[in-house]
Amino acid sequence: MSQLSRRNFLKLTGSSAALGTLSLSPIAQAQQESPSSPAGSTTLPYPRDVVAQLSELSVNQPVYFNYPDDRSPCVLIRKGREIKGGVGPDRDVVAYSTQCTHMGCPVNYDQEAETFKCPCHYSIFDPDNSGQMVIGHATESLPQIVLEYDEAEDALLAVSVNGLIYGRQANII
Ligand code: FES
Repeated sequence: MSQLSRRNFLKLTGSSAALGTLSLSPIAQAQQESPSSPAGSTTLPYPRDVVAQLSELSVNQPVYFNYPDDRSPCVLIRKGREIKGGVGPDRDVVAYSTQCTHMGCPVNYDQEAETFKCPCHYSIFDPDNSGQMVIGHATESLPQIVLEYDEAEDALLAVSVNGLIYGRQANII
């Protein structure tokens, strides 16, 4: 049986350019076209949404909101002490997606343990450490909602997301 030479292959496919596209799936092509915008990228066109007034927050009381759209539940916590990634004058406010990174179940904030707990398969996430998974089936941290504090308006704004929200190919859909 004769082997197909490169020259004959190129004749059959029309040009050498065909070599570059024959094996790429549509997703791979899209990634190749926009290599600088990964799915969880903060360069996506995120809205800037006011999600809370700082003076109305109580320490260790979760406040729920949706971001970057109505189908993406999130939670904001004021910890009352400076923590990693915290915003506001005391650098103590953080926010996360509440969709578990294992299979998307809604995580609950345990005020006593000060952790997020998933009721489905018991993964635990640490709000003081960028949403890092502490134990359980999940392998990824909870996506962290990037916040800004507007001192003049006493407002906390959600401005982007670090990490990919569960079930999405991109955070902005
Ligand atoms: S869905 Fe949360 S641990 Fe499985």
